[in-house]
Amino acid sequence: MSQHDRLPVRRGHIGDARPQGRRFRFSDDIDDTDDRAVTRRRRTRPATPPATPDDTPVTGGRWSTWDVAQRGPAPYPTWLVTDLAAVDTELGIIKTGKEADVHLVQRAVPGTSRSCLLAAKRYRSTEHRLFHRDAAYLEGRRVRRSRETRAMARRTAFGRDLLAGQWAVAEFTALGRLWRLGAPVPYPVQLHGAELLLEYLDEADGQAAPRLAQLRPRPARLRELWDQLIDALLILIDEGLAHGDLSPFNLLVHRGRLVLIDLPQVVDLVANPQGQAFLARDIQIVTGWFADRGLPAQIVDAGLSRLRITRNWRPAP
Ligand SMILES: Nc1ncnc2c1ncn2[C@@H]1O[C@H](COP(=O)(O)OP(=O)(O)O)[C@@H](O)[C@H]1O
Ligand SMILES: [Mg+2]
Repeated sequence: MSQHDRLPVRRGHIGDARPQGRRFRFSDDIDDTDDRAVTRRRRTRPATPPATPDDTPVTGGRWSTWDVAQRGPAPYPTWLVTDLAAVDTELGIIKTGKEADVHLVQRAVPGTSRSCLLAAKRYRSTEHRLFHRDAAYLEGRRVRRSRETRAMARRTAFGRDLLAGQWAVAEFTALGRLWRLGAPVPYPVQLHGAELLLEYLDEADGQAAPRLAQLRPRPARLRELWDQLIDALLILIDEGLAHGDLSPFNLLVHRGRLVLIDLPQVVDLVANPQGQAFLARDIQIVTGWFADRGLPAQIVDAGLSRLRITRNWRPAP
């Protein structure tokens, strides 16, 4: 697991997003002049860094939301900063998208050397939420209350918030499940509302790891990446899952290791009647990329025949 003190290169955006609209609040949100509130804050938050009157850290940024968020699988990785006194600082935008934006965040304990970098994926609650994933992917998933189902279907503001939150939950759950299985995915640090914090996959120079699509690997390297892809797919398929939006854009190459990202629409191969069709499409897209890059047909076939041993893949004859 790599984490670097070095800051990333995209500094043009630094400060753009700071401070965030949401700031840390205790559940009872009491006035700071209240003695009880001060006592409570001191107990919850260690004395460093001192809080400003409106309870934002003097160093800027926002308090770490680790204590109020749903956390990723234990044991927590050693690089992860879990101190309550930690402050999250926005360092810039990694990528904006229609459905979500990914930001770079540093979580650090002021006055110490403890810090880590995180990718913050924030699902949008906008008109764009009606995206291609909504319909077929949701088959086989249940939403309990019909008021919520109707709100989502009509895309009311409430419904759009629910959808954003629902995709964040779905991705967090899928990542946690795959992480526990040892699949190559970023460690899912926490879920808080429609925001996911993930292990930041970086290059040695601090830049975000490249997407597979950006690379032109040499033959030996191409073959290694293909083998890694088949290994990863075996884990997913054995677990009864398809990625659902697999492409060279949703595969990062993190210091030589292929990592699957962008998993909110993960498809259940058993519950979803279109599961096999999603899996076939996933496989076809990535196979096409490797073939176009010159991976010999017999190596492609050897990989695909490794997939055939899984009982959950039923390729068309
Ligand atoms: N954990 C991560 N570490 C580094 N970069 C990431 C990470 N997660 C996402 N990214 C970057 O953000 C981009 C968008 O993330 P993704 O999850 O694919 O969201 P989208 O739904 O917008 O496609 C990725 O292509 C990748 O460049
Ligand atoms: Mg993506």
